[in-house]
Amino acid sequence: MHFVTPRLWAVVAVSTSLIISSYAIDTPATKDSTILRSTVSCPGCPDRNCYKCTLGHDATLEANTGGLAYIRSLVAFQLPVSAASITSCTVQFPAFTKPLQASVNITVARALSSDWNEDTVTGENAPDSGDVFTQMEVPAYANMGAIDITPACQAADEDGNLSIYLGTMFDRIELWSKDSGNPAILHITSSD
Ligand SMILES: *[C@@H]1O[C@H](CO)[C@@H](O)[C@H](O)[C@H]1NC(C)=O
Ligand SMILES: *[C@@H]1O[C@H](CO)[C@@H](O)[C@H](O)[C@H]1NC(C)=O
Repeated sequence: MHFVTPRLWAVVAVSTSLIISSYAIDTPATKDSTILRSTVSCPGCPDRNCYKCTLGHDATLEANTGGLAYIRSLVAFQLPVSAASITSCTVQFPAFTKPLQASVNITVARALSSDWNEDTVTGENAPDSGDVFTQMEVPAYANMGAIDITPACQAADEDGNLSIYLGTMFDRIELWSKDSGNPAILHITSSD
């Protein structure tokens, strides 16, 4: 019987250290922009060329795949902790500007660089995209739930910056942007 007591103490010590070494932190998007890629004419863009449009200061973000359009939203965050300490990361996007009339499949990919600027980013100079690492169906009349983007957080650059592309498989979505006062929020769990 006298072996039981030391073991019990060991269990208590381990679980206490797990509790105090995990932190939850929220941080808002640092910048966001719709990236317009379409071969149709865009009357509102320089030379009516959709690839030359700067949309970084618009109040909404758009994504649309279909017809001649390939439109995605590019959103950046800066980690307040080291990427190596990240256990998990989820992103919560703001609400759609109008209720979804039908379910939509959304996709998330990593942007390969966070070196872009809301004043100048366009379909021509936007960072390249990695492969889609998550996809989920949003039901009609719902908003997007939390989306796991841990791989993007773990691949943040030396300044802790990371960028993601939000897209759709078909159909169009429009949501509020940082410039409307509704930035996407990154929820981080870290062991730092
Ligand atoms: C979403 O994707 C799933 C799996 O690929 C598919 O079965 C479903 O029909 C898609 N839904 C929509 C609305 O495109
Ligand atoms: C990281 O993001 C911050 C905040 O947006 C910015 O000031 C900094 O220049 C960025 N660093 C790199 C390497 O892009």
